Amino acid sequence: MHDVNAFRNIHRNRFQTEPTVFAAPGRVNIIGEHTDYAEGFVMPAAIDFATLAGISPRSDGKIVIYSENYGDERVIDDAKALPAAAIKHWSDYPLGVIVTLAGEGHTMPGFSLSLWGDVPLGSGLSSSAAVEVATALAVCSILGVTYPGPVLARLCQKAENQFVGANCGIMDQFISANGAEDHALLLDCRDLSFKLAPIPHNVALVIANTMVSHSVAGGEYTSRRAEVEEACAVIARHRPEVKFLRDATPEDLKNYGHEMSPNALKRARHVITENIRTVAAAEALMHHNLKELGRLMAEAHTSYSQDFEASCVEADAMVALAQDLPGLIGARLTGGGFGGCTINLVEREHAPAFAEALGARYSSEIGIVPQIHICHAASGAHRIG
Ligand code: GLA
Repeated sequence: MHDVNAFRNIHRNRFQTEPTVFAAPGRVNIIGEHTDYAEGFVMPAAIDFATLAGISPRSDGKIVIYSENYGDERVIDDAKALPAAAIKHWSDYPLGVIVTLAGEGHTMPGFSLSLWGDVPLGSGLSSSAAVEVATALAVCSILGVTYPGPVLARLCQKAENQFVGANCGIMDQFISANGAEDHALLLDCRDLSFKLAPIPHNVALVIANTMVSHSVAGGEYTSRRAEVEEACAVIARHRPEVKFLRDATPEDLKNYGHEMSPNALKRARHVITENIRTVAAAEALMHHNLKELGRLMAEAHTSYSQDFEASCVEADAMVALAQDLPGLIGARLTGGGFGGCTINLVEREHAPAFAEALGARYSSEIGIVPQIHICHAASGAHRIG
């Protein structure tokens, strides 16, 4: 999928030097939505779409960042005087990582960094995390440092939270840095411990893009997160040991739900039940109980759509239209919500026909031609060559 040689040529032609190249994947989340910042569980997989980062040293002390996707360059005249704030530009993401690494006490040398990626933008497949993690690996290589994957993920999350100003959790950066081929990863977002769950070879990840744009930097993500925190504060008034909704139970909702605003109650019900479903889904996957996994995904979609109200007409349609297609194991809206993609686990032999039929149904019902990709679980970020 990635033409690494063509990418090397782009860097070479632009900067007249040979780059060291790294790749970091996007992700699809199989289950566990808006649970990461509540210190709960998520179960994503890295996918074959990725960002490539090519890096080479410079002797003039500048940092030059070039994006092949945007056909645009950002120049920082002095690597020792990095900007303090984002400027709402594509370069905020790589620069945020550079600033964060500098904040770890590393003296930034000058370098040229090229970026190119095929993770569809604004479709909830973590194009931002792929850029951050690819940048982090590239810059670390030039600094001569290595961080364990979970630490690298935290640094990239910090860049997005503090520099870019998007209040995301840890899931996207974590799976991009730590994904494993042919596996989903059950992550405990409290202590970042994780288990890999093999995805059977006869199961394909079919990603269906509603073509409705999604953004974590947008207001809905932030307002949902605020409602989750509001619900948690109500429970904590009675049970101070509840620091995040991860610590709360369905029983807490029965006891204290009436003290919450109607929205906070619904958001909390989603997060609390989603944590339970995610752990159960990982069990089901590990025990090859695909029927149960599919059932949990269906329940998760209903909860995401009705209680969390993070779906949209198009995503609900994409999920509904998949239901009676041959080979479907489970379908739900994946990622931050309000558009983006659905994840469909589909028996591999049926995947091409499934993709075609779903695309045709969606086009005729919604009037938009969707992009549908048959993916497999890819490995996490790594150096190429
Ligand atoms: C976005 C965020 C993640 C996570 C998901 C929702 O992808 O970046 O941290 O909160 O939304 O599960």
